[in-house]
Amino acid sequence: MSADRWYKNAVIYSLSLDSFLDSNGDGIGDFAGLLDRIDYLQGLGVTAIWLMPFHPSPRRDHGYDVSDYYGVDPRYGTLGDFVEFTQACRQRGIRVLMDLVLNHTSTEHPWFQAALADRNCKYRDFFIWADKRPEDADEGLIFPGVQETTWTWNRHAQAYYFHRFYDFQPDLNLANPQVQAEMLKIVGFWLELGISGFRVDAVPFLIAADGINVKDPEPAFEFLRHLREFAQWRKGDAVFLAEANIPPEDCVRYFGETGDRLQMMFNFPVNQTLFYALASGDTAPLREKLQASRDLPPIAQWAHFLRNHDELDIARLPDEQRKAVFSTFGPDEEMQLYDRGIRRRLAPMLGGSRAKLELAYSLMLTMPGTPVIRYGDEIGMGEDLSLPEREAARTPMQWSAEVNAGFTPCDEPVRPVIDHGPYGYRKVNVAMQRADDGSFLRWIERMLRMRKELTEIGHGEFTILDTKSHILAMQYTYEGRTSLFTHNLSDRKVEFAVKLDDKSESVRPLVCLQTNRSIPASDDGSHDLVLEPLGYRWFRLGGLEDMIVNGGPAADTPVRVVQ
Ligand code: NOJ
Ligand code: CA
Repeated sequence: MSADRWYKNAVIYSLSLDSFLDSNGDGIGDFAGLLDRIDYLQGLGVTAIWLMPFHPSPRRDHGYDVSDYYGVDPRYGTLGDFVEFTQACRQRGIRVLMDLVLNHTSTEHPWFQAALADRNCKYRDFFIWADKRPEDADEGLIFPGVQETTWTWNRHAQAYYFHRFYDFQPDLNLANPQVQAEMLKIVGFWLELGISGFRVDAVPFLIAADGINVKDPEPAFEFLRHLREFAQWRKGDAVFLAEANIPPEDCVRYFGETGDRLQMMFNFPVNQTLFYALASGDTAPLREKLQASRDLPPIAQWAHFLRNHDELDIARLPDEQRKAVFSTFGPDEEMQLYDRGIRRRLAPMLGGSRAKLELAYSLMLTMPGTPVIRYGDEIGMGEDLSLPEREAARTPMQWSAEVNAGFTPCDEPVRPVIDHGPYGYRKVNVAMQRADDGSFLRWIERMLRMRKELTEIGHGEFTILDTKSHILAMQYTYEGRTSLFTHNLSDRKVEFAVKLDDKSESVRPLVCLQTNRSIPASDDGSHDLVLEPLGYRWFRLGGLEDMIVNGGPAADTPVRVVQ
């Protein structure tokens, strides 16, 4: 049954424990705090929570430097607290996904420590070594400006070790069957404790396991298949969501031709061109990437997002497009990172414009796939550019106007709470927005509710309709239901006609899901539509019986600022 593919109509919310809610006053968010806010997330419309790494870790890369895959960092609680959390989620029908960092460990992981101490121990071959500094050691840096090399000398090991990321993150040798076996065991362990799936970190680098020049990637792809098979054997509905910033044409290898590898993947090409469309009004590159991302095996699914916990990576845009995105959304040097990205939150990037935020979310929610929301973006939180690198967009959740945004009573929160300017917690917080029916939070709640009812987006087929260049009009069809999503990327009112691909015998009206207005078809079967500047409208094709009435803003809603 295709409806059993729960991830196809999920709403995923990503959060890191340390910045969500602190329950014991030590300044660090924890499982008990998160447990307290599951009802908030359920009310928001979230159906799956993606937890960023929560294992014991020196936390030099936000937990992506794992020192024990089987544990919970004591700062966040205990394994018992973790199970209380997954159980509370299950009671509410919420799934839990967690990060799975297979590419590397922390230098403090016992495997690496053992490998350093004894050249002949089995753990030596868990990592990747060279006696001489490889010639390409300066190439393929992931964090240019911060990272200097991908091979670092270790005097205990008397060898260089390979690290795609920071020097404290030695790459695992995934080609070693013993490493693969350990990975399966880790997956099995967490599935047993109530996890429904994994966000797999840095997947392209698993494929490039032996450094930059991979001779034969097939065994690594085969490992992805094996991983999936193992997980589904243990738990039938388990899914993997791959972090892979690669061109669309390479994606099928990650999904598998027959859909036997990873079920989901973030659509980075669509993310980048979506930001270009917002910056320029030009929808052509976005349409092109959407077309390139179609025809997947039935089991496969894209995940769409606006911002995540990293920089907005626009490296793959052509020069002119990248320049346009930088100059519109991150013009100052301090906003930019690693020569390729913008380290800002969504709301300030969009100048705090309510109309642009709605447009961006409306676009993202109607992309073919599953939406992923970043904590704090539902209230339009800002960034703190005085923090280093990607920390700028990882400040504590702003719950209320109480001290430290209600995140912690502690004087020293894990990262400073934003306390001044238009995005300070006294102006942007959950408590205030819940009390205001016109707030962005309320708007998101309504949109998510409606989005979940529109199962044709996640499960169905899409067609991009022929319209004007500043308009994106997408039709979805699934099990006899047809809907249409229209967006005006320009700052002018636009009138246009669309001709849907409708197999029904009679000509049907389009019913607007925001206004409940019905738009009859013209004699030739097309529909005449009008979109306000930066406007968007969602429609269901058909009569009242097909319609979902939802209180969205009216066509002439003026442009408002988030606060
Ligand atoms: C990708 C993660 O999103 C990022 O935050 C992390 O630094 C790297 N992988 C290394 O694990
Ligand atoms: Ca705490």
